[in-house]
Amino acid sequence: MSDDPPHPPMRSFGRIRGRTIKPRQAALMDTLLPQIALDLSAGVLEPRALAPDTTETWLEIGFGGGEHMAAQARRRPEVLMLGAEPFLNGAASALRHIDAMGLANVRLHVGDARDLVAALPDGAVDRVFVLFPDPWPKARHHKRRLIQAETAAELARVLKPGGTLRFATDVGAYADWALERLLGEPRLRWIAQCADDWRMAPADHVTTRYESKRLGDIDPVFFDFERVEP
Ligand SMILES: C[S@@+](CC[C@H](N)C(=O)[O-])C[C@H]1O[C@@H](n2cnc3c(N)ncnc32)[C@H](O)[C@@H]1O
Repeated sequence: MSDDPPHPPMRSFGRIRGRTIKPRQAALMDTLLPQIALDLSAGVLEPRALAPDTTETWLEIGFGGGEHMAAQARRRPEVLMLGAEPFLNGAASALRHIDAMGLANVRLHVGDARDLVAALPDGAVDRVFVLFPDPWPKARHHKRRLIQAETAAELARVLKPGGTLRFATDVGAYADWALERLLGEPRLRWIAQCADDWRMAPADHVTTRYESKRLGDIDPVFFDFERVEP
């Protein structure tokens, strides 16, 4: 039997630990995280079994400090929100939001989102968010970019027909890169009808912490794709 991981071992993220985590957040890592951490050890994760009362499952990949994830989860308590983020300070920050808002509909994977996606059955997810992923600007690092043809295929697999994927970036080269790969996946259709559909933040968007820093070389762009039958 092969011991190969289900995705290329290339890391798409940088450091997993930053400044010392504040005591309150550290305490939540010990108390709240075990209650809402996803267990991938079985290899398959049936999201609806985790929260049978929810009507949809959404997934945020690389939620950073968790502001967007928590705000969306608060708006839509009937949605089960899955979040994946390997950066421990980000996970700790997200726990603070989840605790402060009293959210019961968020589950976390503190690790590589690709492991979580690999464990999800086909068509298990209604919405996926990939917001301002690390741009990895140097050519020799492009293979670390989260959006690759393989990721696009995996996200198409776990999205249910009619489900949607939102990709956002403020880095022009990554916008081009992601579009090429997402458009290359026959099960994904770009929904935009006119330039304002991708140049303007969608009505339901919540500004992320990284986005607000305006570090990129373009205004943020938002690409919404629909899962279709090819
Ligand atoms: C530039 S930050 C943006 C964070 C957040 N989405 C925002 O807009 O504020 C990109 C995040 O993606 C995370 N990330 C990178 N690769 C990942 C992966 N394979 N799975 C989950 N998260 C990942 C990084 O740890 C980092 O926190």
